[in-house]
Amino acid sequence: MPTDPAIAEEPDIRAIDGWTLREFAEVTSTNSLAAHLPPWTAVRATVQTAGRGRTGRRWISDENGLWLSAVLPTPGDPARWSLLPLAAGWAALSVIRALGLPDARLCWPNDILVGRRKLGGILVDRFSADAAVIGIGLNVANRPDLVDPALNGKTARLADLLPDTPAVISLLLRLLAALTREHDRLESGDASGLCRDLNHAWLHRHVHVTLAGGSGAISGHLEGIDPAGALLLREAAGGLHALPAHRVDLLREVLPT
Ligand code: BTN
Repeated sequence: MPTDPAIAEEPDIRAIDGWTLREFAEVTSTNSLAAHLPPWTAVRATVQTAGRGRTGRRWISDENGLWLSAVLPTPGDPARWSLLPLAAGWAALSVIRALGLPDARLCWPNDILVGRRKLGGILVDRFSADAAVIGIGLNVANRPDLVDPALNGKTARLADLLPDTPAVISLLLRLLAALTREHDRLESGDASGLCRDLNHAWLHRHVHVTLAGGSGAISGHLEGIDPAGALLLREAAGGLHALPAHRVDLLREVLPT
């Protein structure tokens, strides 16, 4: 039986490359629905009525976008999985770049941007110690700005960036394969390849970081992450800060005007 109060339907279920994919027409949030599903299950919905973004924001999830949640196992030492939110960002970015968008980029921790506009976002939920739900939202041919005019000029969608709009299901398959690949890298216990890829993807950017708990702010150049996932931020005076994710409230890029 469905567990989401918004669902009056049974999903279409199919097995793909080690994943069980459950597809719905409408749910509240695919992440919420995936909360109690076993690892290697993925949930996709055509529409989310209460899509969730990071830091409690809502995520507009209108028809013709990709709204996907994938449950990954995270057994053993939790430290091994501390890079998972960043790895998920890299997985999604690598799929998008391979579509023919080499300038798509990550904004820490895992926003996917083209120029200053947001193409996609990732929300990682931990409902249990031994699994993580990776929620990926990607604007494909949907129009979030028509649903929320405040998003006008702030969002990007693949339909405007590519000569041919990719089918949502083909994007989904590529994303699941990329998540499997990054999960395998973390499971191997050697995150050096992932750190290298991420540090290349960050490029050196001027950022302003608001520290958690009202403990101030730091401006500087983002030099990347260390092997534990801490942000490496170099101040103009030369000092290097290693900031674990829990110490960062907000990172804002300072872009040239
Ligand atoms: C963000 O950038 O704030 C994260 C957005 C994450 C949106 C996706 S869509 C699929 C999954 N289900 C949700 O409710 N949220 C994530």
